[in-house]
Amino acid sequence: MPDFDVIILGAGAAGLMAAIEAGRRGRRVLVADHARDPGEKIRISGGGRCNFTNVNANHILGRDRFLSQNPRFALSALSRFTPEMFIERVKKRGIAFHEKTLGQLFCDGPATQIVSMLIDEARQAGVAIWTGRAIGAVEQDADGFKVMVGDGIVTTTSLVVATGGKSIPKMGATGFAYQLARQFGLNVIDTRPALVPLTFEPGALEMLKPLAGVSTNAIVSHGKTRFEEALLFTHRGLSGPAILQISSYWRDGDPIAVNLLPGQDALALLQAARKATPRLHVQTVLSAHLPKRLAQLVGDLIDQPGMIGDLSDKKLVVAAEQITNWTLKPVGSEGYRTAEVTLGGIDTKDLDAKTMMARTVPNLFFVGEAVDVTGWLGGYNFQWAWASGWSAGQVA
Ligand code: FDA
Repeated sequence: MPDFDVIILGAGAAGLMAAIEAGRRGRRVLVADHARDPGEKIRISGGGRCNFTNVNANHILGRDRFLSQNPRFALSALSRFTPEMFIERVKKRGIAFHEKTLGQLFCDGPATQIVSMLIDEARQAGVAIWTGRAIGAVEQDADGFKVMVGDGIVTTTSLVVATGGKSIPKMGATGFAYQLARQFGLNVIDTRPALVPLTFEPGALEMLKPLAGVSTNAIVSHGKTRFEEALLFTHRGLSGPAILQISSYWRDGDPIAVNLLPGQDALALLQAARKATPRLHVQTVLSAHLPKRLAQLVGDLIDQPGMIGDLSDKKLVVAAEQITNWTLKPVGSEGYRTAEVTLGGIDTKDLDAKTMMARTVPNLFFVGEAVDVTGWLGGYNFQWAWASGWSAGQVA
């Protein structure tokens, strides 16, 4: 008889959820993690308030909000474990929460409330949680799997791999899931940092640096994909929700376009200002609509130091274009060091969408960020972790 029915590698969002569900089915479950404490990323998430789900992160409203080689793959798990089901648990636990914006649900208090809820639910379901233990070699034989956990070997019938992606190595992220997937013959889609600030070459950075700390609402686009959210200038380049979102779509060498006046007709606005206040400088006109330092920079880029009344129609068109279609060429991103998630991962072709089981290796499951499913910013990634972990927990 194996030591456990189910061993789950990784005590993060997906692993804890899988453990709770398998434990509730009466399975003898172990969750093992090399970190000292379970759920560390949950603890620091959402600026310490955990954006634990998004009311739109379901198979209908969220269907275009998950990036993958096969975006339809995620829909099965998302339709079976919905945001409402997680919200129900949060309510039952008495955790106060609020919707911040765009369907994003955050705890009113510390994110540790979510971690404690999951750990308590796991313990109540009889789950053993072993932390601070390195996971070594994994082997399969006729009886199941043998896993080196700490100094000893533990055996199990089912193995759920929930060790996440590569984002934030300082917090214990490793490529372990990809290594295991390859060991068992599964394909891994190339990974790259996502939901990550974008960086610029020294010349552009010199121009942007004086704006460090400035935030403004903007539409940021890459091809046909666009996000209207806050844009933040930093010492290293651009960040803020609009940039993090577009970073998941941006590819090396591509430009991005920024509209600094979403929902406004910049040309009409400049024409009206020329008529009403011809003696004002362009920067002064713009500072009524943009943060002052940004208005200064845009004025410099338009390169019209004079009064707005002196600008020809043609020059106004150029100025409006600069404001609404400011093209910038990032040279890279801040990488896994600060990326919230990892794009790519275990190829969904090799997994069953309903159970997350490997198609060619019975009783081996991959869940959460390790899989080639990456959500938008705003609670989508946790919902994927809960839903995929829950799905595996029903059968593992
Ligand atoms: P997760 O990374 O949570 O867990 C993996 C576990 O495996 C970890 O405990 C790790 O220690 C362990 N592990 C890794 N390698 C191992 C090895 N070799 N041996 C043993 N154990 C190993 N999402 C969202 O929806 N809302 C939000 O507010 C945020 N906020 C946020 C902030 C920041 C700063 C980051 C970095 C990320 C977010 N996210 C987020 C994303 C979210 O945290 C992420 O999608 C989920 O944590 C993924 O859950 P997993 O369980 O798949 O991996």
